[in-house]
Amino acid sequence: MEPREYRFTYEVYNTLDELSVEDRELAMAAISAMEGSYAPYSGFNVGAALRLENGTIVKGANQENAAYPSGICAERTAMFSAGANYPDLAQRSIAVAASQNGILCASPASPCGACRQVMAQYQTKAGKPMSVILVGGERSYKFARVDDLLPFIFDNI
Ligand code: THU
Repeated sequence: MEPREYRFTYEVYNTLDELSVEDRELAMAAISAMEGSYAPYSGFNVGAALRLENGTIVKGANQENAAYPSGICAERTAMFSAGANYPDLAQRSIAVAASQNGILCASPASPCGACRQVMAQYQTKAGKPMSVILVGGERSYKFARVDDLLPFIFDNI
C-alpha cells in the first residue's frame, strides 16, 4: 500500500472587484441570470453564466417542475444550452450565483454532483480547462479546472 495525497489550490475573493475584468463580467452575468430562475418549490434561485472560447456568454437558471426530478439546475441549463447552440465552441469558464428571498447567498452555492459530471465532460470535449467561479455575497471562490471539484473524473470518451 502506498498512500497518496491529492492537493489543489483555489482562490478566495472577498469582493468581486478583486476578480479579473472577464471573471467579474461573468460573475455579474451569473447574478443577472438568477432572474430567469423558476423555483416555486425550493425558493432557491440559481443563475449560471458560461463563457465560450470566443467570449460569448450563455446564461442559465434553475427550472423546477411539479414532477421534481424533471427540474434542472442552473449550471446544466447553461451548459446544455451552449452545447446545443454552440456545439463547436469550447466552454471555458462557468460562474454560479444563488439567492434566497431575493438576497444573494453570503456563501457561494456549490454545484451538485450531476452538474460537476456534466462540467467534466464539456471540459473533456473541449480539451482545455473549464474554470469554475462560485459567487457569494461575502466571498467568492475560483477553481482553475473542473477536476478540482471532481477528482478522479469518470470519463470514457
Ligand atoms: N440548484 C442549482 O440550480 N444549482 C446548484 O448548484 C445547487 C442547486 C437548484 C436545484 C433546485 O432547483 C434548487 O437549486 C434547490 O436545490
